[in-house]
Amino acid sequence: MKKIGIFYGSTTGTTEKIARGLAKRLGVEDKDIHDVAETAPSAVGDYDVLILGASTWGAGDLQEDMATFIDGLKAIDLRQTEVALFGCGDENMAETFCDGVGEMYHRLHETHAEFIAPFENDPYKYNHSDSDVKGMIVGLCIDQANHPELTDARLDAWCEAIKQEI
Ligand SMILES: Cc1cc2nc3c(=O)[nH]c(=O)nc-3n(C[C@H](O)[C@H](O)[C@H](O)COP(=O)(O)O)c2cc1C
Repeated sequence: MKKIGIFYGSTTGTTEKIARGLAKRLGVEDKDIHDVAETAPSAVGDYDVLILGASTWGAGDLQEDMATFIDGLKAIDLRQTEVALFGCGDENMAETFCDGVGEMYHRLHETHAEFIAPFENDPYKYNHSDSDVKGMIVGLCIDQANHPELTDARLDAWCEAIKQEI
């Protein structure tokens, strides 16, 4: 059985809440849920599968704790590691919706991680998102501000996709 670690960067607690919802669905224990503000990047070495989540701030900026954490990950070879990305944003930021998810994706490329669990066919409404790479959303995007009623179903579907892929 592959070992899953969840790492999140969250400024006001929304992404943390989503991280805990994912953990519950995937059977991940509390000790394997990490706030990246208090975690060394080397901690990822304990896991076969990393679930990395962060919100978007400013105008399309990756949440600051995760931005620092990702810088630390760049020196680590993640060739044997599967990585799933998620993030929280606000569709009203229609030009930068969940850009942080796309930023994690692009910044992790040099680690050679294997990305899993893109999230397709979800009816988000935005003009632009860096999480949308060639028509494919590279991870789960959650909008707790405008569509909290859709979150449970999105988490259920995404966790099923992860279980199938790992
Ligand atoms: C000042 C500010 C800037 C934001 N900028 C963006 C943005 O560019 N894109 C986006 O999708 N969401 C944006 N958001 C929405 C946050 O990402 C959203 O509230 C998220 O749920 C916060 O998660 P956290 O509490 O885990 O940090 C912004 C929110 C604030 C208050």
